[in-house]
Amino acid sequence: MKLVLISGSLRKASHNTKTLNALEPLFDATVTCTRVSIDLPLYNEDLENTDDLPTSVTTLRDAISEADGVIICSPEYNYAIPGTVKNALDWVSRPPGENRWMNKPVGILGASPSFTGTARGQTMVKTCFLLVGARVFSGEQVLIAEAHQRFDDDGKLTHEPTRTVMKQFADKFVQFVASSKA
Ligand code: FNR
Repeated sequence: MKLVLISGSLRKASHNTKTLNALEPLFDATVTCTRVSIDLPLYNEDLENTDDLPTSVTTLRDAISEADGVIICSPEYNYAIPGTVKNALDWVSRPPGENRWMNKPVGILGASPSFTGTARGQTMVKTCFLLVGARVFSGEQVLIAEAHQRFDDDGKLTHEPTRTVMKQFADKFVQFVASSKA
């Protein structure tokens, strides 16, 4: 099974990227995880209509096309979906007739230093992916609160209850993707 893992944060010390780093080893050997960046230009239909699409866009689109499932670990910005993630969603949804999110199994998790652990933003992220036709996984919620206290100085997850929830998410997401293919 091929999974694409996407961090919704572009910053180097991102808690969401660290969360993906902790999630990846929780999959068994039958799962191949590939990271793809969403450091993309802002969506612009003029760019879409040239023969010269940015490589970052074609790389992302191809990766989503080839993936059996996609996992997005997203921050919450102003109680909502960050522009990075919405911009990636828009690029991959185009051009008309080539929406690569359609029927794609998508799992969403998030980390924040706040007590609410992306609860509000994550609901919106899930809604946006549902509206674009993705099969959004709702089996296990991963809302990592106080994320700044859950990793050590090397970026390693130190909070075992969080790892336990992430393992449940990983196992159930794999089952979800497998059942989506059947
Ligand atoms: C935030 N942050 C934030 N946190 C939160 O829990 N709820 C929120 O609504 C917001 N809003 C918000 C807006 C903007 C513009 C920024 C830059 C930040 C804080 C945010 O959770 C924190 O910066 C995280 O560390 C971002 O995720 P990464 O970069 O660590 O993955």
